[in-house]
Amino acid sequence: MASEALPPQTIAYPAPGAQPYRRDPEALEPHVIVLFGATGDLAKRKLIPGLAHLDASLLAPNVRVVGTSLDDCSTDHFRDVSRASIREFGNHKITGPATEDFLHQLSYVPTSAGPEALAEAVRVAAAQLGDDTRLLHYLSVPPKAAESVITMLNDAGLVENSRIVMEKPFGTDLASAIELNAFVHRSFTEDQVFRIDHFLGKEAAQNILAFRFANGLFEPIWNRNFIDHVQIDIPEELGLDQRAAFYEATGAYKDMVVTHLMQVMAFVAMEPPTALEPRAISEEKNKVFRSLLPIRPTDVVRGQYDGYRTEDGVAPDSDTETFIALQVGLDNWRWANVPFYLRTGKRMAEGQRIISIAFKEAPRSMFPPGSGIGTEGPDHLTFDLADSSKVSLSFYGKRPGPGMRLEKLSMQFSTQETESADDVLEAYERLILDAMRGDHTLFTTAEGIESLWERSTPLLLDPPPVRRYPQGSWGPNAIHQLIAPHAWRLPFERVWRE
Ligand code: BG6
Repeated sequence: MASEALPPQTIAYPAPGAQPYRRDPEALEPHVIVLFGATGDLAKRKLIPGLAHLDASLLAPNVRVVGTSLDDCSTDHFRDVSRASIREFGNHKITGPATEDFLHQLSYVPTSAGPEALAEAVRVAAAQLGDDTRLLHYLSVPPKAAESVITMLNDAGLVENSRIVMEKPFGTDLASAIELNAFVHRSFTEDQVFRIDHFLGKEAAQNILAFRFANGLFEPIWNRNFIDHVQIDIPEELGLDQRAAFYEATGAYKDMVVTHLMQVMAFVAMEPPTALEPRAISEEKNKVFRSLLPIRPTDVVRGQYDGYRTEDGVAPDSDTETFIALQVGLDNWRWANVPFYLRTGKRMAEGQRIISIAFKEAPRSMFPPGSGIGTEGPDHLTFDLADSSKVSLSFYGKRPGPGMRLEKLSMQFSTQETESADDVLEAYERLILDAMRGDHTLFTTAEGIESLWERSTPLLLDPPPVRRYPQGSWGPNAIHQLIAPHAWRLPFERVWRE
């Protein structure tokens, strides 16, 4: 997981001794958050720093966090590790006593201590909060551990009045997804389950909804008559980052495409929902997934970076893809024959997260050959999904001076330029808050996940061979044939304006 290169922001916290008030007037009930995988990578990098910020900024209700994991450590040790991760990974600089106040709300019980010990730790934490306390179980654990955690929650009597946040991948194919969903549904109703896809918690991803549905300008041209193709391109510079065991069994398609890239694609491609509420949005997203054409292996380039097979924890003959590029199609009226190109991979030339909409070119040109018309690709609308989210619209304009020379110009918006730039919530913060609120709008459903796995079946049964690519590149050469006659937007010819 790449950490954003944003400068830490300082937030105005209540003065020491002042009576803190929670910022949300819809007063959320106090929560005990039971964090499974509490000493793992995600907890350290995102969850603990995120919870600390939510607590210190008073966006969250009163919380207690009960951490648990396979590590046999004490509450004091857990607090020390958490203090270090808040310092190292927190996007927001927390000042004053707020960090120590938060750390006092943490306790730890090793998973090996068993369900009774966990139940007791939760009881103690809940007693500090009051009768209306709710439980939020966050399963920051590998997929194969999810079932034993749910069994433990049942044994500990912690299912009632609780919600559960689950991390992807949700299964590894259609059969395993159905099985996992059925297993989860034996203990929890769908209402209690929050399948997290942190890309949907990114401000920039939600801004796609605002951009499309709060304006009359673009929606009329948001279809196959005006849009030539769409690219969702998420190259990463980072590599395995000590996650070899997870990654070897997962690969780029299951780690990124069937989750993040497809979810973002749904925001780009969905019909206008009838309301900004979970059921309406899920229904439109699920329609996109249902109209996804089965993924044909011939439309897919799988890659593996040079040196992957000698990484610690990787099989010397590993067939896991660390890169994938594919063309997909949506079989509906809006998008018929508009290709969607998706690409992501590890150890690539740059870390970027962009969605690029390429508009059709002008049907005729009155500009003479040599004027520059059409030489710099079509007009593009580009969304940057970084925390410092940006949107840009590129078009041809006249280069100043004599004659009629044309060049690509762009209009650009950046959240960083706005007064509310400091209010950006990190994706996990936003989603944890939504889960406490019981708001499923930005979460994925069992049905959506199953549709995606179903459409993935041809690829999973017959994956094309992995092709090597040099570290620091844009993937195997075959990516150019895949997208021809178009071209990948990345690397950008013109960088974003700062
Ligand atoms: C995670 C994947 O879900 O998303 C990682 O498991 C990937 O492999 C990460 O690096 C990317 O997320 P972000 O928010 O850092 O772009």
